[in-house]
Amino acid sequence: MTFCVQLCAVLLFASVSFLLPAGAAAEESTEPVCIQCHSKMPEKYSLPVKLWKGSIHAENGIACNACHGGDPKDAANAMNPARGFLGAPKEPAIPAFCGRCHVGVMKDYLASAHGRKLGAGGPTCVTCHSNHQVLKASLDLINEKSCSRCHTYERAKTIRAAMQQTESMVVAIDGRISTYKKTGTDTDKMEKGLFAVRNRFHTLFHNVNVELVKKESAQIQADLKKIQDELDRLDDTHRKRKIGGAVAVAFLLLLALVLHGFKNTFD
Ligand code: HEC
Ligand code: HEC
Ligand code: HEC
Ligand code: HEC
Ligand code: HEC
Repeated sequence: MTFCVQLCAVLLFASVSFLLPAGAAAEESTEPVCIQCHSKMPEKYSLPVKLWKGSIHAENGIACNACHGGDPKDAANAMNPARGFLGAPKEPAIPAFCGRCHVGVMKDYLASAHGRKLGAGGPTCVTCHSNHQVLKASLDLINEKSCSRCHTYERAKTIRAAMQQTESMVVAIDGRISTYKKTGTDTDKMEKGLFAVRNRFHTLFHNVNVELVKKESAQIQADLKKIQDELDRLDDTHRKRKIGGAVAVAFLLLLALVLHGFKNTFD
């Protein structure tokens, strides 16, 4: 009898501890209540969901509540300030709102000619990146339509030209790394290296200071050159391996031919 109770307790414990993590995981993957409710609302309140769905934030699991706060699991209290809901930020509060996560960018921005005019005609993060449809950043963000809203495009053009060469290097290296990745080569270290340099480079823009951009770009290009060298070495090894492979195949073919001839002679 006591044995049975003990056995049952053990079995019960085993099944519960087996079920618990699976249950918790299933719950984590459910959509935030923010999306469920806002999707069904009029344009003004549902458009953010549509725009956000194609964004780099959606891709990286940064949902409504990551930016706006609130409780993503409890529809009745989702927008309760007591659950950390922050609401929609007014213009002067936007840099700090985004800067909770993008600390380095915010620092450069606040020190720049743009940041110093925050609330007085300067652009905020969403002026250039939008609020919900934030995409992967590139120099395409510096264009006539966006940058001539407040001053001539001339200034924007100079800073874009100063960054173009480094950008081209980044794109080329990125392409070479993904080609190797597809063939199953371990590209982890190079990817991490490029990620760090790329981040430093893309942050740089926010000081909107051409002289500073030129100075820092020199160091960034030196770091990119190191990754390029590593890729060159990889190219070299692969070329040698290909030649080695071709030689081996030719040898096997020759051997097969000789054996075939040998067999025919004896048949
Ligand atoms: C049950 C429906 C419902 C849920 C759940 C919900 N919202 Fe809302 N939300 C609304 C309504 C209705 C409004 C407009 C009226 C208002 O501001 O209260 C709104 C407005 C907003 C606004 C604009 C506020 C402003 O000041 O203009 C934001 C931002 C927002 N919601 C974010 C969220 C986030 C983030 C979540 C999840 C943590 C969420 N909502 C969950 C219904 C909902
Ligand atoms: C990357 C951060 C970020 C994410 C993620 C985000 N928002 Fe926003 N949202 C903002 C900012 C910033 C504003 C205010 C911007 C402005 O004034 O242009 C805003 C404004 C809003 C508003 C007010 C719109 C208006 O026109 O007054 C609503 C509603 C809203 N967001 C809902 C959502 C919902 C729902 C989600 C999830 C699908 C979401 N947001 C995800 C940053 C974000
Ligand atoms: C809760 C944290 C968080 C907040 C708040 C946030 N972001 Fe992001 N953001 C991320 C993450 C995570 C990524 C994806 C990883 C990366 O690229 O850094 C990202 C990516 C980006 C990128 C693309 C970066 C790239 O590599 O090209 C831009 C641009 C961006 N965010 C702008 C904004 C803007 C503008 C706001 C405010 C409206 C904002 N973010 C608010 C976390 C956040
Ligand atoms: C919302 C208005 C606005 C937008 C949009 C805008 N700027 Fe500006 N920009 C300003 C203001 C304000 C200043 C500082 C006052 C001045 O010098 O006119 C400034 C100054 C600059 C400067 C001079 C910096 C210095 O240190 O002298 C550069 C370069 C610049 N902007 C580049 C850009 C680029 C590139 C874009 C587009 C991606 C852009 N701006 C979009 C408002 C804007
Ligand atoms: C005047 C326009 C402008 C403003 C204002 C602006 N950005 Fe950017 N941002 C850009 C451009 C252009 C790039 C891409 C630069 C490049 O490709 O090197 C960029 C790149 C980024 C990146 C990618 C950097 C990385 O680390 O990979 C992030 C994140 C970002 N911005 C966030 C923000 C945030 C947060 C703010 C506000 C504090 C902000 N931006 C304000 C134009 C702007």
